[in-house]
Amino acid sequence: MSSESGSFSFSRPDLSRFLFDLYDYEPGLLRRLISARPHVCPFDHIERHIPQDARVLDVGCGNGALLAILLAAGRIKEAVGCDVHEGALASARTAADRTGRGNAVSFRRIQDFQELPDALFDVVTMVDVLHHVPDGARAQAVAQAIRRVAPGGVFLFKDMVEGPFWRKLAHNLDDLIFSGEWVKQVKTADVEKQVINAGFELVESKNIPRLFYGNTLRVLKRV
Ligand SMILES: C[S@@+](CC[C@H](N)C(=O)[O-])C[C@H]1O[C@@H](n2cnc3c(N)ncnc32)[C@H](O)[C@@H]1O
Repeated sequence: MSSESGSFSFSRPDLSRFLFDLYDYEPGLLRRLISARPHVCPFDHIERHIPQDARVLDVGCGNGALLAILLAAGRIKEAVGCDVHEGALASARTAADRTGRGNAVSFRRIQDFQELPDALFDVVTMVDVLHHVPDGARAQAVAQAIRRVAPGGVFLFKDMVEGPFWRKLAHNLDDLIFSGEWVKQVKTADVEKQVINAGFELVESKNIPRLFYGNTLRVLKRV
């Protein structure tokens, strides 16, 4: 699947197949988990908000699946992925290189959100990161991320729903199994309010159910 062949599609099965092929250097279980991610995380919704030739900052990029998808689709002019986890960043670098467009992206290890690049981006994404941040540090993490959004640019925030109970439980069990944490869901309304108060307008607000999980997507534009 490549954008050159005109066959790039953002359908869930295509994204899943793309990631399965791209991450063939990862051990079997991890490779399968990465390729299953489009069935849980709405990358297909997220990509609609990334303009062509965008400068993108992905905060908490993990193994770089979102950036790899956007690189392969030819969306990225320049991107930076940041994460605390060096192992994930190493995988993200390999994945980006394998798209053939790795020179458009750099990956940076950070220990604090204050260390995000001191630059402005068309799109700043924060996908499933904030629920891993301690409650008291969440507002500061969001403040640091939105500081990097250029005038007219977009902050794209994706996290997990606070309810109903069984979707919340699915999220908690998933994170308990895969990251060893019993996470506390993000109060999405608080994030929304904070970003609007910082001079953004809400462009899209959606709850997107996937399997047992529930995603909250908020897209806010700096006005
Ligand atoms: C569930 S993963 C999501 C990864 C990626 N955004 C995605 O959607 O595939 C959460 C990521 O947030 C990262 N993370 C957690 N706390 C962080 C922090 N303080 N600064 C940067 N990244 C952080 C973790 O290392 C992990 O890679």
